[in-house]
Amino acid sequence: MSVLPIARMGADVLKRRAAEVADPADPALGAFVQDMIDTMVDAHGVGLAAPQVSRSERIVIFFVPAARNGGVEVPLTVMVNPVITPLDESKNEGYEACLSVPGLTGLVPRYTNIRYSYQDLTGATVTREAKDFHARVVQHECDHLDGFLYPQRMADMTSLAFADVLQSAAKAKGQTVELDEEG
Ligand code: NI
Repeated sequence: MSVLPIARMGADVLKRRAAEVADPADPALGAFVQDMIDTMVDAHGVGLAAPQVSRSERIVIFFVPAARNGGVEVPLTVMVNPVITPLDESKNEGYEACLSVPGLTGLVPRYTNIRYSYQDLTGATVTREAKDFHARVVQHECDHLDGFLYPQRMADMTSLAFADVLQSAAKAKGQTVELDEEG
């Protein structure tokens, strides 16, 4: 088990396009992916992309808790060379946070309905459809492979906030704010 250091906003590795993985079935990749899982669990994230641990390759891990997906869990998924296709033009806004942008949160528009394909660690191609939070997590994580952090996807920067301040302000008004993504 290895918990790896997480690169934070400003690091060059988070700004560039990550390289395709030539052989997803390479056994050496499995050990790295296990380190990614250990790192994500340690950081209490729902997703992590390889550039966030300073490896500029197209690898993403994530899961979706049942409570955030209509009662149906999306189990831990390892994606190599993922590709996203929006299924229509509809978008929705939700608060996102990122392990590479600690403490902050902001409203981000994302496609509501997507199809995504990837290779698993046997090299097999898997295709899934996703909506809402599941689709948001996949879009957030795959953005890391192209050098984008969520603030660059925000339509209105006035919602950018420290998460604890936002939560306190909401609580004072008797509201709750659901923070959508930590990956
Ligand atoms: Ni992130």
